[in-house]
Amino acid sequence: MLRNKEIILGVTGGIAAYKAVELLREMVKRGANVHVVMTKNAQQFVSPLTFETLSGNPVLCEMFRLFRGSKIGHVTLADIADLMVIAPATANILGKIANGIADDLLTTMVMAMKVPVLFAPSMNVNMWQSSFVQNNVERLKAHGYQFIGPAEGDLACGGAGRGRLADIAEIIEKIEDIFTKKDLQGQRILVTAGPTLEAIDPIRYITNRSTGKMGFALAKMARRRGAEVTLITGPNYLSLPRRDIQQISVHSAQQMRDVVMEYYEDCHIVIMAAAVADFRPQNTLQEKIKKTNGTYILKLEKNPDILKELGEKKGEHILVGFAAETSELMENAGQKLKEKNLDIIVANDVTQPGAGFGTDTNIVKILDVRGRVRKLPLLSKDEVANIILDQVVKLVRKKQRNLPWPRNW
Ligand code: CTP
Repeated sequence: MLRNKEIILGVTGGIAAYKAVELLREMVKRGANVHVVMTKNAQQFVSPLTFETLSGNPVLCEMFRLFRGSKIGHVTLADIADLMVIAPATANILGKIANGIADDLLTTMVMAMKVPVLFAPSMNVNMWQSSFVQNNVERLKAHGYQFIGPAEGDLACGGAGRGRLADIAEIIEKIEDIFTKKDLQGQRILVTAGPTLEAIDPIRYITNRSTGKMGFALAKMARRRGAEVTLITGPNYLSLPRRDIQQISVHSAQQMRDVVMEYYEDCHIVIMAAAVADFRPQNTLQEKIKKTNGTYILKLEKNPDILKELGEKKGEHILVGFAAETSELMENAGQKLKEKNLDIIVANDVTQPGAGFGTDTNIVKILDVRGRVRKLPLLSKDEVANIILDQVVKLVRKKQRNLPWPRNW
């Protein structure tokens, strides 16, 4: 997603400077061309050689070093950059920039930037809370500078509290967010994810192989594109690199149904990526079932079909379903699309390598209500999520303008 982006990574002198190495790697992995600028103090913590090796670009530390022929470094870089990230940002750098001081390469460069500048502060909790730092932060925000973190947790100085550098995943998510067009702004999206879990007794349950990755990718991408997102999840081990998604955890299909219905009227779009269990034990026992000789027959009864119920009272909502199949993919998916009154169904053959449950990738076909099919190759779940959301955006526009169905699928 950061392909061909020119990013300046400013590193200042805090203990979290070593984490900037990981941040650099993550940006490079995503295709960015990163230019590292270090303050004098930052070089006490990490060697410029580390950043130089991993970025493949010279690391700039000195104010008067010439860069790319005859042009002065900070001016050239500031001109070509798409974004500047300062991580970690110390109290000192925040104070200097907030007060217009430009006495080294990094601070001078910040002054010359015409593109977004993102600060990821890291410092002792008391320093962060001090009125000096807080006033400087407010001042910088008022000038349009952006912030991520600091996070709460154990601090290198021995204490605990708010002051840690935000997680690298969160910083990356914020960077991606800055570069993302907000084409779902104003839309409220409800996404379901994961399996459901149907209790047999206090010890045992029935579930399926879903891990929730596809639904989490959809929630993250929808929020990145500006939607307000509510994510209703069955049990899973995932965490989101964003704090601005409302997440509600449920266990059973019945619980998922109840929460979905509670939020349904208030949202514009529902994406049911959850693998809802079709059946549950007829009776959930309060005591553990003890083993007996011979066979044990477990009676199951049907769970509510959440998406079908939503389709029956569709109104102006846009409904997106998934079809996880092991055979006759298109026939089954097409039938579900009609039966559940959906706008789009995302069909995946879970037997294909790289597709379906637990993987970071997926291979899907997207069908619409007019029978059009978009076949996608093996892609990351994030990429698949974005393509599904592209189709959703087209439907939103069509609804907003009361247009006929979009032609370019
Ligand atoms: N779904 C649902 N409630 C259920 C079962 C499924 O809302 N009780 C939703 C899923 O979230 C998915 C779509 O319906 O978006 C299709 O789910 P899938 O399990 O593929 O199909 P089913 O309708 O359950 O039919 P079958 O299991 O017979 O293939």
